[in-house]
Amino acid sequence: MIRLKDVCHTYNVGTPIEKRVLKNINLTVRNGETIGIMGAPGSGKTTLAMVMAGLIIPTSGDIVSPGPGPGKTGLLFQFPEHQLFCDSVFNDITYPLREIMGLPPAEVEERYNQACQGAGLNPQLIRKVRQSELSDGERRRVAIAAVLAMNPSVLIMDEPTVGLDPAGKSKVLNEINNLSKEGKTVIIISHDIEDLLCTAKRIILIEKGIIAEDGTVKQIISRLSQREETLPMLPWITELLVRLKRKGVNIKDDIYDPAAALQEIKRVLKKT
Ligand SMILES: Nc1ncnc2c1ncn2[C@@H]1O[C@H](COP(=O)(O)OP(=O)(O)O)[C@@H](O)[C@H]1O
Ligand SMILES: [Mg+2]
Repeated sequence: MIRLKDVCHTYNVGTPIEKRVLKNINLTVRNGETIGIMGAPGSGKTTLAMVMAGLIIPTSGDIVSPGPGPGKTGLLFQFPEHQLFCDSVFNDITYPLREIMGLPPAEVEERYNQACQGAGLNPQLIRKVRQSELSDGERRRVAIAAVLAMNPSVLIMDEPTVGLDPAGKSKVLNEINNLSKEGKTVIIISHDIEDLLCTAKRIILIEKGIIAEDGTVKQIISRLSQREETLPMLPWITELLVRLKRKGVNIKDDIYDPAAALQEIKRVLKKT
């Protein structure tokens, strides 16, 4: 479980470039829960991820978290491929297992295989491949496998799909769903609500360091629909339905699945 109580964080305290980034954050993430965190760039998502992972000690407030380390919290950084530095996929994924944890070779092997499978990679085929030979999507999945190999109970992923093509994106999102099904606690951060709708049941919106919304997918869609300035945060299909409804069209506007939206539009067109 992760629990934050009245957490505030300010960078560069007492200097002219002092910046208050997190303001009175109260948040509990239960074991086995998958939550999505969204917000505009600069709203404080990455800082919150680091605080939850135990990598930043906040300026004030209380925090309960397993903290960093093997078996505890794993953080996938925004551009995790920058952390890969070995000559082969196997060496990258197993580096901390061998060099920091000193696990015996058989266990390293087992964890390598499991981590690859968890990240949607074929452990044998990818084993000796060099970083430079990987596609962007594969590189991101290698970074995910490197986090999984540490067997974290809580997984925090900071913008795991940014910079990926649609195929790479959907593979990563599928893998996140598999991790949720396995019962891991997963926190997925994205500026794109579409990534969260297909992975999380609960979504949190951060605005300028404050938790502006915290609710189920349905509640978040409905609240974002009510404010003009948050309308563009919705999936474009939902925004379209909301705008049609505002123009007086008798249409359901809480739909984000394109196929369901198409059915609803067809239904309305038949009536007219
Ligand atoms: N290490 C840092 N030192 C000073 N300011 C920072 C640091 N990291 C982030 N910030 C500032 O804090 C704010 C929130 O950043 P961040 O947590 O990265 O937000 P997000 O991930 O939502 O884009 C931004 O204004 C950013 O410039
Ligand atoms: Mg960020």
